[in-house]
Amino acid sequence: MGKRLSNKVAIITGAGSGIGRETSLLFLEEGAQVILADINATTLEETMNLVSQKGFKDNAVSVIADVSKEDAIEAMVKTAMDEFGHLDILFNNAGLGGAFGSISDIDGDEWDQSMVILLKSVFMGIKHASKVMKTNPNGASIINTASIAGMSGGGGPQAYSAAKAAVINLSQTTALELGEFKIRVNSISPGAINTPLLNALSEDWDDRIKGLQPIEELGQPLDIAYAALFLASNESRFVTGHNLCVDGGLTVDRTGLIKGMREAAAAELGDTRISGMSMGSTGIEETLREIED
Ligand SMILES: NC(=O)c1ccc[n+]([C@@H]2O[C@H](COP(=O)([O-])OP(=O)(O)OC[C@H]3O[C@@H](n4cnc5c(N)ncnc54)[C@H](O)[C@@H]3O)[C@@H](O)[C@H]2O)c1
Repeated sequence: MGKRLSNKVAIITGAGSGIGRETSLLFLEEGAQVILADINATTLEETMNLVSQKGFKDNAVSVIADVSKEDAIEAMVKTAMDEFGHLDILFNNAGLGGAFGSISDIDGDEWDQSMVILLKSVFMGIKHASKVMKTNPNGASIINTASIAGMSGGGGPQAYSAAKAAVINLSQTTALELGEFKIRVNSISPGAINTPLLNALSEDWDDRIKGLQPIEELGQPLDIAYAALFLASNESRFVTGHNLCVDGGLTVDRTGLIKGMREAAAAELGDTRISGMSMGSTGIEETLREIED
């Protein structure tokens, strides 16, 4: 059997860390040519070193891009076209925790910033990628990283969860519109996956996860990378508008999900009331305010 992504060109955002890094390596291994994009130049270079060590350097181009900026997204798509001549796969994956705290304490500007990074980025990615994908005779695949936090209440901070719910819906809505061009749009909703994003919230997830989900272990970035590989490949040619939940069964019992997140937050904060903006793995400092009233 040939490689699963032979002759395909992919853009992967958030390629500097976690799920994006692992997916970049897997797509390259499966024969794709990949544009690796991230806002964090240091971690992106680390990923590129791994790419070189594995012998994929000639098939990879790194782009420092802030997905909250439309011109950066346009430039990313242009790079794919200039370097490789076509674009077949977009993995809109970059993300961070964003605004957090009690709903009464969250700053409006931090809410807006969260929505731009987590949701508008996905819209802009679909907008610019689909323009060039429409001319592909064999169609294309757009994959958006949502979250189990977007599938019910209690799985994440309010702005994050609302944005991820919207990512699931936007994937379905654009799947309808782009179907006539054989452009498929799907989302993946990861559960608790062992990446810096999750570990910033709590470090003892291996213990925390026990009793919460049928498969009692933390997911690994490769679990999501394999889901993305399926959705990117021709094997999923008949799958569109789907939200693929990869969570070890965590959402089978939603009370477990809510309990786990509450316990993690309580262990981290105790009675302290804080609000701010988590900047995840971007290398940009978070804002943090202790709320007293
Ligand atoms: N880890 C989990 O448990 C989990 C669960 C559900 C959903 N997710 C989602 O998976 C995706 C990947 O997260 P991860 O867990 O690999 O986290 P991560 O922190 O390891 O990687 C996220 C990457 O996105 C990049 N990024 C953030 N903002 C950016 C911006 N404005 N422009 C460009 N790049 C930016 C970061 O620099 C980082 O390299 C995110 O969308 C996240 O919301 C993760």
